[in-house]
Amino acid sequence: MKKLDISNWTIKQDLSNLEYMNESETVFAQANGYFGIRGTIEEGYSNEIEGTFINGFYDTEDIIYGESAYGYAKERQTQLLVPNTKNIKLFIDDEELNIEYSKLENHFRELNLKNGIITRNLTWKTNKNKILEISFERFVSMDYENLMIINLSIKPLNFSGKIKIISGIKEDKVKSLDENDPRVSGQLKYSLKNYDFFKKDDCIVTKSKTYNSNLQLITSVINKSDNIKVKNIKVEGKNIFEEFCIDLKQNIESTVTKYCFYYFEKKSKIEVEEKLDLFKELTSKDFRYYKSLQEKYYEEFWNISDIILEGNKEIQAAIRFNIFHLIQSVGKNGKTNIAAKGLTGDGYEGHYFWDTETYVIPHFIYTNPDIAKKLLSYRYSILHKAKKRAEELSFKGALFPWRTINGEESSAYYPAGTAQIHINADIMYSLKKYYEVTDDLDFMINKGLEMLVETSRFYADYSDYIDGRGYCINGVTGPDEYSALVNNNTYTNMMIRYQIKFLMDFIGNLKIENIQLYNEIMKKFKITNEELILFNDIYEKIYIHYDKEKNLIGQDDSFLNQKMWDFENTPKEKYPLLLNYHPMIIYKHQVIKQADLVLSMMLIPEYFTDEEKKANFDYYENVTTHDSSLSECIHGIIANELGYEEMSVNFFENTVKTDLYDLHNNVKNGVHIASMAGSWQCIVFGFLGMREIDGVLNFKPNLPRKYKKIELKLRFKGRIIGIILTEDQLIYSLIEGESIEIVSNGEKIILI
Ligand code: BGC
Repeated sequence: MKKLDISNWTIKQDLSNLEYMNESETVFAQANGYFGIRGTIEEGYSNEIEGTFINGFYDTEDIIYGESAYGYAKERQTQLLVPNTKNIKLFIDDEELNIEYSKLENHFRELNLKNGIITRNLTWKTNKNKILEISFERFVSMDYENLMIINLSIKPLNFSGKIKIISGIKEDKVKSLDENDPRVSGQLKYSLKNYDFFKKDDCIVTKSKTYNSNLQLITSVINKSDNIKVKNIKVEGKNIFEEFCIDLKQNIESTVTKYCFYYFEKKSKIEVEEKLDLFKELTSKDFRYYKSLQEKYYEEFWNISDIILEGNKEIQAAIRFNIFHLIQSVGKNGKTNIAAKGLTGDGYEGHYFWDTETYVIPHFIYTNPDIAKKLLSYRYSILHKAKKRAEELSFKGALFPWRTINGEESSAYYPAGTAQIHINADIMYSLKKYYEVTDDLDFMINKGLEMLVETSRFYADYSDYIDGRGYCINGVTGPDEYSALVNNNTYTNMMIRYQIKFLMDFIGNLKIENIQLYNEIMKKFKITNEELILFNDIYEKIYIHYDKEKNLIGQDDSFLNQKMWDFENTPKEKYPLLLNYHPMIIYKHQVIKQADLVLSMMLIPEYFTDEEKKANFDYYENVTTHDSSLSECIHGIIANELGYEEMSVNFFENTVKTDLYDLHNNVKNGVHIASMAGSWQCIVFGFLGMREIDGVLNFKPNLPRKYKKIELKLRFKGRIIGIILTEDQLIYSLIEGESIEIVSNGEKIILI
């Protein structure tokens, strides 16, 4: 079966076939960072997995442990399904339009990546042989974060008469997709409470509240059409609908515009009237007005964010699709972040992970640094909770949560959760990159530095000085979740070393460049000289496990001494291993879920010699299952650097196609945001070989023969730099800003 018809800027689906619906509901999801909807159809159907999500709108419940221990995460946080506003039902002579039973022809929908609009067309022949052409156009506004807008056009071809429309606000129920898959969301016992339904002028409204997190939500819709005569309100359970008829004239198109509005606040009382006035004002403009704004937004977005890759049309479209989902799902208000599944599904409960800093932020730093800043601001907004968490665990400083929405740790399985203390260093790594790429000293002074000092304090206190070894970081889990609670995960130790150097350099430079500010900072954060000496000592003496006999760097102290996993006798259906083997079996073997040491090679290339990169990549790649979608992109980048062309292309293409081609068989639960961003990294850090080292952009391009051309733009220190790479040409151009020096294949170039 041909699932989707994918071309340069559009994704088209033939809706006469319902086999791929749940997957396509994710592919066709629309969002603006504040809220998002799954790509279900307006009239609904029996097997749909519905979902409307608001970024950061969640509730909590106690985690029930059979056997608890001190310091375990206490509460689950789960992103809630909020009321559904996209529903619209159509009736002719009491016969309902239904995708499963109606006689429909030419039923297609198309997502246009150029503007984020989905258009769906169909021809409906009723049992009484009335024929209508119907089209729906909808989008979630990028300019007005609270607004979604749907335009319905109806044209009767062989009759004039009435059509009944029911359109309103309805409750969706969570469908648990696979209870045995820990990556899928669990359900909370309760959803929203204190439902209040009413009509206020043209608005139909529901007001609701979460049970524990104290969030208040207003959902409202207004149906508008020139033709509506009478509207009746119907309340059924937690659903409120408007029912109305319009008079259709043969061969004339009638339209209904549905405006949908979401707003939430953490407050005991929400100013409903005020918010509805705001909404009503939004509805004074028509669909065309918002559509043109949306087009403009995306035109500006693509102008900087597009990547042209010639040589494979499928890959070209998939890259755009991935970049499109990043801008759709990313929180842009400094109070929210980007969930592992974006706003496209309830997988991973809507939690934010290190996926943001390690995978997503680089894309934004080099294309939309303001968004990167907002994501880092979110981390700053939860710093006080990270400090409390460190204290709870009896350490100084701050420990950011492994997975969270509200800033508290929400990981119930601590070996693959809290124990991943590399989260602090991941965030600090992206802070360093953000700072070096934007020179945003203000952000560093007002937000970044405090995070940097506090997370470094945590590491200093956590580390143990062991004679003969140095500073050890024991009992932690690195990125590879198929090893847990190990000593000296090299990735973690290297990242800590790197962040501590960043802190010392930053403070050191401040002392030289602005002694007054330096004194203020030292006082404000109570940094003593003894503390600086300790940081320096850790930087110099943090332990890295080299296995001299095997001539390898250990992933941790014990990995290389474990038994090798029996890859030969593990059938395909036993992957991912996490769904088929007890952790104790997995943990005691040499088997890796995702890039770990290989990730350090990409993030901190200066810590490795070329020989070390090759020897360790060859070894570790061989024992990696890539069971996590965070893995292949990183391997693709290093494979390209090492000249393993075919391997690098394979990893790259698997990464790019993960969601659009459902390579992990779970796209119905939501997209894989990290690997979507990873596909951008494969191109920029992989094929262009870009690394930012000490404030200078270095390129070492290596275009696989399969592709003919890469063309893209990057923002760097207030400039826009254009890059074109073909089989025989490499062109850098300065599109905007003052001249700047870059390094290409080791050679300094000044762009003017
Ligand atoms: C990966 C983590 C990741 C999480 C959310 C897990 O499967 O192992 O590294 O943060 O998924 O994407």
